[in-house]
Amino acid sequence: MKALVLSGGAGTRLRPITHTSAKQLVPVANKAVLFYGLESIAAAGVTEVGVIVGDTAAEIREAVGDGSRFGLDITYIPQDRPLGLAHAVIVARDFLGEDDFVMYLGDNFIVGGITDLVDEFRRTRPDAQILLTRVPDPRAFGVAELDPAGQVVGLEEKPAHPKSDLALVGVYLFTSAIHDAVRAIEPSRRGELEITDAVQRLIDTGARVRSTIIKGYWKDTGNVVDMLEVNRTVLEGVERRIDGEVDEASETVGRVVVEAGARVVNSRLVGPVVLGAGSEVRDSYIGPFTSVGENCRITDSELEFSIVLRDSSIDGVGRIENSLIGRHVEVTPAAGVSRAHRLVLGDHSKVQIHT
Ligand code: TTP
Repeated sequence: MKALVLSGGAGTRLRPITHTSAKQLVPVANKAVLFYGLESIAAAGVTEVGVIVGDTAAEIREAVGDGSRFGLDITYIPQDRPLGLAHAVIVARDFLGEDDFVMYLGDNFIVGGITDLVDEFRRTRPDAQILLTRVPDPRAFGVAELDPAGQVVGLEEKPAHPKSDLALVGVYLFTSAIHDAVRAIEPSRRGELEITDAVQRLIDTGARVRSTIIKGYWKDTGNVVDMLEVNRTVLEGVERRIDGEVDEASETVGRVVVEAGARVVNSRLVGPVVLGAGSEVRDSYIGPFTSVGENCRITDSELEFSIVLRDSSIDGVGRIENSLIGRHVEVTPAAGVSRAHRLVLGDHSKVQIHT
């Protein structure tokens, strides 16, 4: 069995972060979201992995390398344009050959991994197996309709009137039967070759498509709200570890990770919080569910429920909450001007200002 990991795509929902970097590399508890997926593939005993890459190929290659550090053997497969999940299967045809494979969306996050699922597929070996989870509002997802016996009878991509509350999770198991199906479908209204249409085609041609409803936690980290939510969930599981320096005037409460080379001076950190190597927190408060990457400076500020990527600084600005802050960002007060905000923001930035 092989794995196909999708790490191309446009990432429009995570702009401006995705103007300069791959969304699969945004860190969750200071580790790229993609790495959690690669680890769960390795844990399931699958080692031959094809990674689909698009415009951010160089960055993904640099971060993941040949895969040996995950115990994987990785082949990079370029996709010229993000023409859909089924299109990714088409471009991976030579790599996949006639093997069964697990397809994993590189920005998806599943607590508990995929080992049970892969084992179940190997045992029962249907033509395809999809993963489903109940969601409150299925309109933003691929949605499955099941018959009373639990067989999948229909799939729809982002339906206006969903026929169930069962959303497709971004992990699929396929036999080589999928290759005919991805070739037989037409692009959807949004111009993509949809994997839901390919699976529907399997169903229509009499193939056996099984579904499993997962009870564990799953999120697509495609937008900021979900990204912060996944970060919160992962941080809930971290163990307290202080490898860096915390001075006597500071207090660290609960599950706080201060990496080696990080410093906390005259500050209060209330966990779960992770502070990356080389970062410094001074005269500040960092509240629950916050990840600060490497080489950041947080001074005279308060930060809660947020992700700060590496090499950024936040200095003397009061309280920041619910925020995703990119790399090499500087947040400072506007000196000398009262009640005026001075902003230098990249395209597609989003700022909410307290008035
Ligand atoms: P999506 O989140 O569905 O698409 P996207 O990355 O284009 O994002 P947005 O909707 O914000 O513009 O993609 C799911 C995963 O699959 C993600 O890791 C990107 C990857 N992908 C590809 O590798 N190739 C593709 O053609 C598409 C559509 C996605």
